Amino acid sequence: MDFIEEIKRRRTFGIISHPDAGKTTLTEKLLLFGGAIQEAGAVKSNKIKKGATSDFMEIERQRGISVATSVLAFVYKDKKINILDTPGHKDFSEDTFRTLTAVDSVIVVIDVAKGVEEQTEKLVEVCRMRKIPIIVFINKLDREGKDAFDLMDEVEQKLGLRVTPLSIPIGMGYDFKGIYNIWEKNIQLFQDESKQIIGKKQKFKSLDAPELVAEIGTTGLINLKDELELIEGVYPPFDQQEYLDGTLQPVLFGSALNNFGVQELLNCFIEIAPEPLAKESDIRLVKPDDKKFAGFVFKIHANMDPKHRDRLAFIKIVSGTFERNTPYHHVRLNKKLKFSSPNAFFAEKKQIVDISYPGDIVGIHDTGNFKIGDTLTSGDILQFKGIPSFSPEHFRFINNNDPLKSKQLAKGINQLMDEGVAQLFTLDLNGRKVIGTVGALQFEVIQYRLLHEYGAKCSFENLNVYKACWVEAKSESTNFNEFQRIKQKFLAKDKSGKLVFLADSAFSLQMTQEKFKEVKFHYTSEY
Ligand code: G4P
Repeated sequence: MDFIEEIKRRRTFGIISHPDAGKTTLTEKLLLFGGAIQEAGAVKSNKIKKGATSDFMEIERQRGISVATSVLAFVYKDKKINILDTPGHKDFSEDTFRTLTAVDSVIVVIDVAKGVEEQTEKLVEVCRMRKIPIIVFINKLDREGKDAFDLMDEVEQKLGLRVTPLSIPIGMGYDFKGIYNIWEKNIQLFQDESKQIIGKKQKFKSLDAPELVAEIGTTGLINLKDELELIEGVYPPFDQQEYLDGTLQPVLFGSALNNFGVQELLNCFIEIAPEPLAKESDIRLVKPDDKKFAGFVFKIHANMDPKHRDRLAFIKIVSGTFERNTPYHHVRLNKKLKFSSPNAFFAEKKQIVDISYPGDIVGIHDTGNFKIGDTLTSGDILQFKGIPSFSPEHFRFINNNDPLKSKQLAKGINQLMDEGVAQLFTLDLNGRKVIGTVGALQFEVIQYRLLHEYGAKCSFENLNVYKACWVEAKSESTNFNEFQRIKQKFLAKDKSGKLVFLADSAFSLQMTQEKFKEVKFHYTSEY
C-alpha cells in the first residue's frame, strides 16, 4: 500500500461524554466489531470509582489502565481506526482538551435519560471552537428516557449544534423495538425480549414490508412514518461537507450495552469521518501528505514504577512517516533525537513498529526530553499551534516540607508540569510557587506522586484566586506599566515565562479591565 493510501485509510477520533453515559461500553463494542477483542468486559473503565479506595490509590490504578487504553487501534473494513481515550473525570478535563488536539473527529455519547450533562457541554464547546466534526450517539435506548425530538432540541440548544438524525428509534425503554436507519435506509428490530442479549437483527428494506407491520403494529408504523415526515420537514438533509466543516452534526440512536445501533454507527463513521487532517503551525499549514515527517506531543504518561522514572510521550503524526532509528529534530531543544523502540498501539497492546503514518499515534520512551506541545520534524523547523493551557480553577501555594529535598521537589514539580498534571505559576514579587489545577483531586495526585516518585514532601496552602489571565499588552504602553506597578502582588509567570494576572475575584478582574484598557486578559495561554 502506498503512502497516500495509508493516509486515506486512517480515522483517528475520540469518544467524549459525561461519566456514565456509556463511553467505555461503546468503545468496547467498537473493538468487538473490529475483531480487536473477543469478549465484552475486556476494556477496563478508566474512570475513578468513588468510595471504595482512597482517591490516590484509585488514581494509581487508573493511571495503569489509562496507559493501556490511551490509544485503541483496530482495523475495520480495511480502515485503520485509532480511538484516543479521554478521561471521564472532570478533574482531568484538561487532559481531555489536550487529547482533542490530536483527534480528527469525535463521537459524543449522550445518555437518553439524562440528556446533555455538564461535562458534555464543556467538551463539545472545545470541539466547536476547533470545528472538529462531531457525531452524536444517543445511548441507552433500552431504558426509559427523553423523547428523541426533545433530546435533539436539547442537543441543539445546550450544545449549540445543528443536528440531523441519521437514525430514529422505534419505541423506547420497555417498548424499544429497534431503529430505522435513515443513513442505510433500513430497519432493524430487536429479536430478544430482554434486550440484554444481542438478539439477531431483522432487517427490512422498506417501510412497506408486510412483516414490518406484524412486528411493530399499525400504530407503530404510522408513528414511524409521521416521524420520518417530520424529520424531512424540520431537519436539514445530511451533507458530508457540512459535517466535516463542523457546521452540521449527525445524530444516531442505539444501546451500546445491547449492541444495538453500534455497528451502524461504525459503518456510518468510516464512511463520513475525516481522514487525517492538516494542522496549523507557526509558519504554515502542515498537510498529511507532505513527505517530511512532523508530529507533536499531546500527552505524557509517567511510569507507574517509581524506580524507573521513564515516561511515555504520545506523538500524533501529522505529516510524512515516522520511522524507527531515524533522527528527528526536537524543535524546542534544537537537537536531533532518534528512537530505537517507538511503540504503536493495537487494541490494548503496544508493540514496537518500524514505520507509522499520519493519523497514527506513537508512544516514545522518554527520560525527560519532552513536554506537552513539543514538535518533532524532519523538515522545516516549525511549531504546531493549538495546545493552549486553560485557566485552572483551583490555586494553592506549594511549600517544601523537607528542606534537604528541595532539589527533588523542584525536579518533581517540573516533570509533573511537563506531563500536564497541573500548571505552575511563579509570583513576580517573591518567587513563591503556585500550583493551579482543574480539580481539587490533582493536589492529592501531586502530593502523592512527589513523595512516591521523587521522595519530596510538600504541603499546600490555600490561595484565593478566581482566574489566571494571560496578559497581552505592548511593553511600551504607560497604561501597562501602571498596571504592572499597581497589580504587582497579583502577577506571576507561567512555566514558559508568560505574564499572568492572578485575579482574586470576577469583580476585581472587571475593575482592572476597566482601569487598564490597553491590557488584554485571556483565559487561555494561546490567544
Ligand atoms: P462511561 O465510560 O461513559 O463512564 O460509561 P460506562 O460505559 O462505564 O457505562 C456506565 C454504565 O452504563 C454501566 O453500568 C454500563 O453497563 C451502563 N450502560 C452503558 N450502555 C448502556 C446501554 O446501552 N443501556 C443500559 N441500560 N446501560 C448501559 P454500571 O452498572 O455503572 O457498570 P457495570 O457494572 O455494568 O460495568
